[in-house]
Amino acid sequence: MCRVCAGPVEEFLDLGRQPLSDAFRDPADREPEFFFRLAVGRCAQCTMVQLVEEVPRESMFHQDYPYHSSGSAVMREHFQRLAGRLLAGELSGPDPFVVEIGCNDGIMLRTIGQAGVRHLGVEPSGGVAEIARSNGVSVRNDFFQESTAVQIRREHGPADVIYAANTFCHIPYVDSIFAGIDALLGPGGVFVFEDPYLGDIVAKTSFDQIYDEHFFLFSARSVAAMARHFGFELVDVERLEVHGGEVRYTLARAGARTPSPAVAELLAEEEAAGLANMATLRRFADNVHRVRDDLRSLLEDLRAQGKRVVAYGATAKSATVANFCGIGPDLVEFVCDTTPAKQGRLTPGSHIPVRPASAFADPYPQYALLFAWNHAEEIMGKEQDFQAAGGQWIRYVPTVTVE
Ligand code: SAM
Ligand code: TMP
Ligand code: ZN
Repeated sequence: MCRVCAGPVEEFLDLGRQPLSDAFRDPADREPEFFFRLAVGRCAQCTMVQLVEEVPRESMFHQDYPYHSSGSAVMREHFQRLAGRLLAGELSGPDPFVVEIGCNDGIMLRTIGQAGVRHLGVEPSGGVAEIARSNGVSVRNDFFQESTAVQIRREHGPADVIYAANTFCHIPYVDSIFAGIDALLGPGGVFVFEDPYLGDIVAKTSFDQIYDEHFFLFSARSVAAMARHFGFELVDVERLEVHGGEVRYTLARAGARTPSPAVAELLAEEEAAGLANMATLRRFADNVHRVRDDLRSLLEDLRAQGKRVVAYGATAKSATVANFCGIGPDLVEFVCDTTPAKQGRLTPGSHIPVRPASAFADPYPQYALLFAWNHAEEIMGKEQDFQAAGGQWIRYVPTVTVE
């Protein structure tokens, strides 16, 4: 049943038995791993694309949540730019107040804090919340939901902006979120969020955007329907290149603002592409199976030739790729990653060792499987010596290529 409108959900892709995408495992750990069935469907009523099975939030977002947003220089700049725009626009009135849902290590709010503007990050994962605090950010270590929002409103007054990046799509309980936004947002305020865009996922066959934490795959059409369902309205959209293609959506209370022309344009583009059609989503599923077969046979060929293959970036996304394609330490020697909390551990389900970035050049492998393809420019930029030494990158988005 649809988590937005309770309509029937039709499944179109089954990615099989999958672990928690961020549950990097201690090699000494003998406890059985948690697995669930990762499958995606589309609501026949509101067209929202969503997971068929839900994972309890506490098993994903906890003290040791290993994802640190500030690990990417490109993302640091991205959020600094956004903060600057908010400060010059929505937050330029008298004594403004902004709440961020899922502030992580404070990558966005630190700029707001430095400007002396009232803010509050709501972040359930204790470790990253602590880092945000050390960056001068005010944080409430909690899940955002109706009860949290009501308390924040009581303590701080109404918010001018509620913002969420790569977080709203993680939350199945949207009814409680919208009730919270309704309670906390001032009458003229906006709810702004950015998440991976279904249009990019289908166009690039980036099926690795589907994992436990990404409960919804938003489109302008499904977000507009969701907003309407809860008394809000989609008033602006902006396409973003980060994380493999996202959309930044702006919602206001129904009738409070005139929607920008960009909304109608993106809706028309989706209509022309048939993005909400089951036929399109089934074609996407066929493409996903083709990528899986191509990637697997390439890696098996390389193994047969005795080549060394290492992966780059122990992303949450790569859990889906590794577990769906059956890629383990027999095909990929190790994954290098700059995140200390992931190093020395094994990738979830697939059990590939994670090593620091310095292991990459020690010595270079012949092939590097780019798991962090969304950071390609940043990574290939700093790893130019790899190709100069004769190494080749393997990509699988939008198709399997070796370069
Ligand atoms: N905003 C950062 C960014 O874009 O890099 C962090 C994104 S991270 C993928 C998702 C974050 O959302 C995690 O830090 C997680 O703990 C947090 N989160 C998950 N559910 C939440 C909820 N109900 N309320 C607030 N934060 C939540
Ligand atoms: P993300 O795709 O969810 O942002 O995760 C990116 C992962 O890749 C994260 O674990 C950090 C890692 N990474 C590197 O190891 N080197 C890099 O240069 C970048 C940008 C990311
Ligand atoms: Zn629905």
